[in-house]
Amino acid sequence: MNEVPLMPQRDFRPIHISNFSRVENDFYPTPDWVTQLLLDNVDLRGPVWEPCCGDGAISKVIERQRHQVVATDLNDRGYGMGGIDFLGARSVPGGCQAIVTNPPYGDGGAERGAPRTAKLLLSFVQHAIRLTEQNNGQLALLLRFTWIAGKRASTLISSGPLDRVLVITHRIRWFDMGAQTKQGQHHHCWLFFDAQRDRSKPPALMFV
Ligand SMILES: C[S@@+](CC[C@H](N)C(=O)[O-])C[C@H]1O[C@@H](n2cnc3c(N)ncnc32)[C@H](O)[C@@H]1O
Repeated sequence: MNEVPLMPQRDFRPIHISNFSRVENDFYPTPDWVTQLLLDNVDLRGPVWEPCCGDGAISKVIERQRHQVVATDLNDRGYGMGGIDFLGARSVPGGCQAIVTNPPYGDGGAERGAPRTAKLLLSFVQHAIRLTEQNNGQLALLLRFTWIAGKRASTLISSGPLDRVLVITHRIRWFDMGAQTKQGQHHHCWLFFDAQRDRSKPPALMFV
């Protein structure tokens, strides 16, 4: 029998393909321009909680805009306070008016037995919406644009005070490998919730 020829290398970064494991706990720092797009298109009311702060990529950009930031993460990555599980938080840290984060998408891969993607991310978003309603505050989540269209995701998102969706028209490159950096695979968006929004108006869709 003839051997099946190997496919030539495809021109994208295969983060979902088995020979490329995702980083443990989904540590993918957000490029500055992505956070700046959010800040250019929403008004944050006050101090911000970044509950998955990683190395502070999002927090530092928000701080430059003169907002105070409380930065925490499950893991200690040398920035903010480590060892804080967002899913275990019963309230927003004192004084914070907004939660802003790029949550773990939990695509699996690296750790066997890790909670699978859909459940983990849905739990994250559900918990974030609950805390935001409880705090009468704001919430911005960086998510894949296709993810929000799923049945469970869209039902969950619709249950919260969604104010606007900022669709990021430029694909995010999560890695910088100099000249070898490939174009990102996914389009992303910022979902922005505001518990004080006028609920008689539908959420806005903006291309940024
Ligand atoms: C995609 S990275 C984003 C880091 C940072 N927000 C940024 O955009 O640069 C996700 C981060 O979530 C953290 N994380 C994962 N599960 C968590 C949990 N249950 N509670 C808090 N942080 C968590 C990971 O340690 C990781 O730093």
